[in-house]
Amino acid sequence: MEKIKRTEIVDLFKPCAKELIGKDVCVKAWVRTKRGNKNVAFLALNDGSTIKNIQIVVEIGSFDEDVLRRITTGACVRVEGLLVESMGKGQSVEIQARTIEIYGEADTETYPLQKKGHTLEFLREIAHLRPRTNTFSAVFRIRHAMAYAIHKYFNDNGFFYWHSPLITASDCEGAGEMFQVTTLDMEQLPRNEEGKVDYTQDFYGKRTSLTVSGQLEGELGAMSLGKIYTFGPTFRAENSNTPRHLSEFWMIEPEMAFYEIEDNMDLAEDFIKYLIRYALENCQDDLEFLQSMYDKNLTDRLRFVLDNSFVRLTYTEAIDILSASGHKFEFPVHWGVDLQSEHERFLVEHHFKSPVILTDYPKEIKAFYMKQNDDGKTVRGMDVLFPLIGEIIGGSQREENMEKLVSRMKEVGINPKDMDWYLDTRRFGSAPHSGFGLGFERLLLFVTGMSNIRDVIPFPRYPKNANY
Ligand code: 4AD
Ligand code: MG
Repeated sequence: MEKIKRTEIVDLFKPCAKELIGKDVCVKAWVRTKRGNKNVAFLALNDGSTIKNIQIVVEIGSFDEDVLRRITTGACVRVEGLLVESMGKGQSVEIQARTIEIYGEADTETYPLQKKGHTLEFLREIAHLRPRTNTFSAVFRIRHAMAYAIHKYFNDNGFFYWHSPLITASDCEGAGEMFQVTTLDMEQLPRNEEGKVDYTQDFYGKRTSLTVSGQLEGELGAMSLGKIYTFGPTFRAENSNTPRHLSEFWMIEPEMAFYEIEDNMDLAEDFIKYLIRYALENCQDDLEFLQSMYDKNLTDRLRFVLDNSFVRLTYTEAIDILSASGHKFEFPVHWGVDLQSEHERFLVEHHFKSPVILTDYPKEIKAFYMKQNDDGKTVRGMDVLFPLIGEIIGGSQREENMEKLVSRMKEVGINPKDMDWYLDTRRFGSAPHSGFGLGFERLLLFVTGMSNIRDVIPFPRYPKNANY
């Protein structure tokens, strides 16, 4: 007999699947649960295409006992049977099995996802299997949808997707948090006359690292194609064991010629709102699941962001608010300090109760490339701060004036010769321009309502962990 073509489970729950009722269908999927009595068994199958399981009704008498025994939680099966409307609560259709083929068994003694209700910490230990749970499959489907929406937003708005290199010799943020890339033999490093490591013998003939940001090369794109964005992995060797830091994370970095900081803020706000709206409109089932399991205010919080303008104020105004608040912070507040997440969260969650964009930071706490204000003290940087997350975006208008840029580079100890290629943007046809970086996983924390950044990327990288 000829085999029926497979239908994905997501399609069985679409309105157009009504046509299939009363016909034979085929599904291929993993067994989530098996229950029943001595006459009939009910299998809940999931193939990853949707949060919903399809129920399979198995008349025990019609199947080989041995086959039924081998169908356990985690096993992978192919089922053919009649699609019927379901009497069961909350399920529109189910399948009455005619044939069941086992692709792969899952040993009940050793398959780790036997029981429901594992903790997220436990699941992090088995990150290679956790996408088979409802929670992680929902999170990763949303991750996909957000990645798609990011490309769609920029494409529809005339931006070009620009690939900046992952291996680089420049430290964009100047924080010295770079992972070195080398082919030198660590056991026998070549030395020069001064006794230092001789990088001329390294693969690239100089010291190189994994990028912390695609911005500097992005600026080259903006100063030629006008509007570009990057979307790729970035790496930071900062020893931050927090629920908001990864050492390998994905960043989206738009960079635009002729944008001043106000245009940059408008773009950041419009972009984030577009992504959140996209999630609400396209990821309903997964959001509803995450809301029911983890965070009953999830969709309200997403809608709140859409319905309200982000509050915009300067760093100096923020310091005044924090100082006047009378609140006891662990890190004391005065003009010039780098804001800690307790300060950011106070502003966003207690004071304004809204996303906030802070601008015009002291130049000492920001990177060399930010445009200097006339006051000689502040730069045109901007951070977008979100409830529960803190900083979700960091960006700025860039210093387009060659002399000012070079003098700032020297102040922070960058040799302008090493970045001659970058300075050519200012040397030849310089123009006002701006850009920002959105941390993809920070966005996902907000959209999914998950509370640990290690749970929104399939294989997280953080200090002392590079499994899989
Ligand atoms: O504020 P950052 O360091 O800005 C830049 O890298 C600029 N070059 C961006 C630009 O202007 N093109 O990082 C940008 C964003 C942060 O706001 C945060 O969302 C995210 O990247 N981020 C991290 N996400 C996860 N783990 C980390 N360790 C992160 N560090 C930064
Ligand atoms: Mg930042």
